[in-house]
Amino acid sequence: MSDHPVHRHDQADPIDEQHVRGKFASRLGFLLAAVGSAVGLGNIWKFPFVAGQNGGAAFILVYLGCVAFVALPALLVEFSLGRHCQTSAVGTYRQIAPGRPWWLNGLLGVVAGFVILSFYSAVAGWVLKYFVTGVTQGYSDFTPEASGGLFVGFINGTSGPLAYQFVAMVLTTVIIFFGIEKGIERTAKYLVPLLGVLLVALVVRSVTLPGSREGLLFMFRPDFGKLNAMSFVNAMGLAFFSLSVGMGAMMTYASYVDRSVNLGKTAVNVAALDTLVAVLAGLAIFPAVAAFGQQFSGGPGLVFVTLPQVFDQMPFGRVVGVAFFFLLFVAALTSMISIMEPVVTWLVDDLNVRRHVASVGAGAAIFALGVPACLSVTGDGLMGGIKIPFLGGEVTIFDFLDMVSQNIMLPLGAFIACLFLFFGWNRQRALAEVAGTAGNPHHPLLKVWYWCAVTIAPLGILTILVTKILEMAKG
Ligand code: TRP
Repeated sequence: MSDHPVHRHDQADPIDEQHVRGKFASRLGFLLAAVGSAVGLGNIWKFPFVAGQNGGAAFILVYLGCVAFVALPALLVEFSLGRHCQTSAVGTYRQIAPGRPWWLNGLLGVVAGFVILSFYSAVAGWVLKYFVTGVTQGYSDFTPEASGGLFVGFINGTSGPLAYQFVAMVLTTVIIFFGIEKGIERTAKYLVPLLGVLLVALVVRSVTLPGSREGLLFMFRPDFGKLNAMSFVNAMGLAFFSLSVGMGAMMTYASYVDRSVNLGKTAVNVAALDTLVAVLAGLAIFPAVAAFGQQFSGGPGLVFVTLPQVFDQMPFGRVVGVAFFFLLFVAALTSMISIMEPVVTWLVDDLNVRRHVASVGAGAAIFALGVPACLSVTGDGLMGGIKIPFLGGEVTIFDFLDMVSQNIMLPLGAFIACLFLFFGWNRQRALAEVAGTAGNPHHPLLKVWYWCAVTIAPLGILTILVTKILEMAKG
């Protein structure tokens, strides 16, 4: 290896190994992949409605604070750890703290990825179904009387939702199969900008509809009176899920990034673009909902029941609807690959499985868990009758997987990662890693980051964890 340039970094892999592992070819590719991960269903069906309900622009201000002081610092913890060690999340903790149990947090992330993808892919399948419906027959069946029944009828089926979920998982697996540069980076480079263009077009369509003003007022009219302690907790949970923090997904992406990239700048860009998309999603949705006199809502009801009715009534609604569901599927797909990659990276880096085998194996295993998830979304599905005891109550398989992963595993994982920065790692190395070899490790904002990441961020995350558990225990 003497002919290779010597690496500045103490724990860097030899160049040869990096080559085998793969790498993002450009800074932009990494940025777009991370934005693709961050921008997902959360931005489009959660953020706009929660903002509207909790005081509009007042809530958005609180949200920005939570992004800046909790979610962004936590994202940078993941970025810096991942790039420093250039290996899986499990390997990262092992490398920095050999012989100590921190690596279990890496494993927790791998398990969380497995679990989240099992039900996230079911929902992605529904989005695909509504896209296909728009292409093949349009949305004219979705009258106010029929829309809800059509949706519930579909998700309670067996072969229909499973088939669409299968397709969503196959697409995810194929992208992962091709590796970082040819799979993930290439997908993000085409699809993320396309998502942006479509979103802007939808915003223009929506805000130019007569009667759309009420929708703007719903989402933006500042009402500081509606802010309370729970709005802070909600904003924090939302910020944190939206930036894909907590399971080592961003850590894994960063492990494929060149040392020269300034991670601090990249993270700020990811947070800004992610927030911009969330606000634009609200501008695309609520003005149109208002223009056609529909109820404001969020979640699956908004996307699969209300919006098809809006598309049914809107001039050129079929084209708009197809564009919307395509956009939503792209958002879901680029998030799915980021949820699956940590699982595959772990199989490759820690268990020496070849990437091709690892992707197909992980894809198949995740789909296998996805089957019970998909068939138990409501109590009326084929496996909806199976109940799992959870925090003193009983829940369906779908709800169990959803709640355990999002409300427990993710906050716990992020909390431990922040503690690790303080107790397990070295401050100087962390600051240098965030700056990158081309950046300034003495930038004053880096110190601000560090102190947020070891104080406010873990406290905020702990608050989410405790509140969510109490909330779930109440039923
Ligand atoms: N951020 C995505 C959304 O807003 C979801 C997501 C993708 C995610 N990867 C993640 C959440 C990793 C937590 C961890 O929908």
